[in-house]
Amino acid sequence: MSSAIGRPLPHDSARRHVSGAASYVDDIPEPAGTLHMALGLSPKAAGRITRLDVSAVRAAPGVVSVLTAGDVPGANECSPSIGGDPVLAGAAVSFHGQAVFAVIAETRLAARKAARLGVIDIEAAAPLVTVDAAMAAGETVLPDYAFRRGDAAAIVKAGGPVVAGELRIGGQEHFYLEGQAALAVPGEDGDVFIHSSTQYPNEVQHIVAHVLGVSQHQVTVHCRRMGGGFGGKESQASQWAALAALGAHATGRPCKLRLDRDDDFTLTGKRHDFLVRYATAHDASGVIAGHDVTFNARCGYSADLSQGVIDRTMFHADNAYYLPDVTIATRRLKTNTVSNTAFRGFGGPQGMLAIERVMDHIAQTGGVDPLDVRKANFYAAGRDVTPYGQTVSDCVTLLPLVEQLERDCDYRARRDALAEFNCSSPILRKGIALTPVKFGISFTLMHLNQAGALVHVYADGSVMLNHSGTEMGQGLNRKVAQVVAEVFGLDVEAVAITASATDKVPNGGPTAASAGSDLNGMAARNAAKTIRDRMAAVVAGMFGVSAEDVTFAGGSAWAKGRSVPFRELAKRCWLERVSLSATGFYKTPDIHWDREAAHGRPFFYFAYGAACSEVVVDTMTGEMKVTRVDILHDCGKSLNPAIDIGQIEGGFVQGMGWLTTEELVFDGEGRLRTHAPATYKIPVASDVPEHFSVTLYEGGPLPDTIYQSKAVGEPPVMLALSVFSAIGDAIASLRPGMPVALDAPATPEAIMRAVSGMRI
Ligand code: MTE
Ligand code: MOS
Repeated sequence: MSSAIGRPLPHDSARRHVSGAASYVDDIPEPAGTLHMALGLSPKAAGRITRLDVSAVRAAPGVVSVLTAGDVPGANECSPSIGGDPVLAGAAVSFHGQAVFAVIAETRLAARKAARLGVIDIEAAAPLVTVDAAMAAGETVLPDYAFRRGDAAAIVKAGGPVVAGELRIGGQEHFYLEGQAALAVPGEDGDVFIHSSTQYPNEVQHIVAHVLGVSQHQVTVHCRRMGGGFGGKESQASQWAALAALGAHATGRPCKLRLDRDDDFTLTGKRHDFLVRYATAHDASGVIAGHDVTFNARCGYSADLSQGVIDRTMFHADNAYYLPDVTIATRRLKTNTVSNTAFRGFGGPQGMLAIERVMDHIAQTGGVDPLDVRKANFYAAGRDVTPYGQTVSDCVTLLPLVEQLERDCDYRARRDALAEFNCSSPILRKGIALTPVKFGISFTLMHLNQAGALVHVYADGSVMLNHSGTEMGQGLNRKVAQVVAEVFGLDVEAVAITASATDKVPNGGPTAASAGSDLNGMAARNAAKTIRDRMAAVVAGMFGVSAEDVTFAGGSAWAKGRSVPFRELAKRCWLERVSLSATGFYKTPDIHWDREAAHGRPFFYFAYGAACSEVVVDTMTGEMKVTRVDILHDCGKSLNPAIDIGQIEGGFVQGMGWLTTEELVFDGEGRLRTHAPATYKIPVASDVPEHFSVTLYEGGPLPDTIYQSKAVGEPPVMLALSVFSAIGDAIASLRPGMPVALDAPATPEAIMRAVSGMRI
């Protein structure tokens, strides 16, 4: 039997996903007496609640109870960080649509109808909605923070060539297919069991305990799978679980809360949007000498995960480029909008988009090919220390990877062909861009870099696997099962995949930062190895050999030419009273980060990739089509190339949506106007480029990770920066020498604004 590692096995639930047999929170058979919840939302974005009248709600048909802030027995707080996120708004409201009360009723429809009957009177204040308004008001959720090396401002002023400009980057709605959901079942003595669609069961557990005012051991959280998370269920699944738990606590009956899609849009944070300002000095060949950039981020009404997210923007403001003298400044602005949160890439994509804009700006004004400017600025030996002091020791991957893609996709010849096409095509313009990705792997909050696992071997030789990671479609469970199968020499189907469960593996981190398989793969391997060693000792006794001579492969244990089927060995271990259950643990080694000093080695290694995208833009209408995409991505030694290629394709398309069609519009009152698919456009099948080629890169240095694989969950999102650059490239052809002022997302309107800028 071939090894379980490196095989292109389908997702373990692929068939269930497409046949409808995969169970999500709302599919779990409801326990007898289950009640349903709906929320009453704030009609204003800012102000003081002067009157909350829920008498009509209470009197509505089917209503069992109504909860307001005063009904929270413990802390009315579900923040993942410094506080400021009430489960239900108390005295004040901070954004339009904030949850003010919760209705509990016999049916979901009854709860939703009754929720409309609440009267919420608010003494309204003028809301701060935009980045610009928050900048003018000087309102922040967290202190300003910067990385500085040398004196970038002085170099910019010194008199050499400089590019300077402004870039607006839009946010993004997660649009997981399964919305936020939780089912809470009350137990004895105030215990509660929660099914939650969450990337972070451990945090849901401790927030629910805090909200109820009980110990963590009274709260159990399970998550079999999510129908997508994308960061939106990292911190922001807790509130719904807490509300369901409050409902169960108040009524003594199971309570379910599943947000309606429009409410989900309104009530949950998004990717942070930014206003970026930069001034960058460079030499005649485009090599950067000094880079001074400020990222103004809209964080929303509270801190949530904004510290980590905006820090990651800073960590990736270099992307693949060495910035000798550099200032990377950030403002974490407070607005009366929903609190922005983790989203695939965790702030990194915005940092990288800004430096890619600088590359294009230098190329457009200098009349040089943008790819040559990029290559001239790559990290390389002797120019390999980041603005935060980490040496990019694996940067040797960059140039060969990019040059391989450049050759394979025929970049230079196509560039010439495009130039020729554009000469004779006044309206339709084509553009091409080849951009790199370098993405740091590890949580920059050091304590999150840990994972646990629990493995059981039953007496029939079947294996049950549990680990602290969660499954959101990314194939983590399959990968970790492959690892355990490999340790025992079994077929991967012999390893059962189970729900993430806080009562089996405690104190886990979130499944985020793309580190799921790195962390949980190692923890599960450690658990499985402990059991394998015990089994090997039994084999040693059976065959009179030493335990070191025993190997596990092909469904059997082997020693000196003799073998015993795994199944029989498991039975034998049981009869001999050998424990066949073990926990495993892993923490990422060799990483450290001193935020105060802005110095350290926060990343265990970097993931790399590159993409070349070609587009055609109609400069009369702003319509745009991506016609060809070629990707070369480094997964190290892929644990599962089928899943990894799926992640690359999906990540790219999601990134492309963010940069082209997905536009969030808040009106002057702070009301989100794009809160359903009718007004918010995610990519659909027909947006996938006709030519879409994904190849895994081999040949870079390999990290000391689980079977030397590299994380793949988030980095591919940033391959889509090539689409944005290619659109800019098409527009640039209108007027050589002039920089393109295109904002993201490059909707037809944004494209037309940039086009008209070229015609002034
Ligand atoms: N893929 C699918 N299908 N669904 C998701 O929700 N989330 C992404 C990525 N890929 C996501 C996904 C995000 S934001 C992260 S951080 C990683 O998966 C998390 O899983 P991993 O650490 O196992 O890669
Ligand atoms: Mo992913 S944004 O780290 O959940």
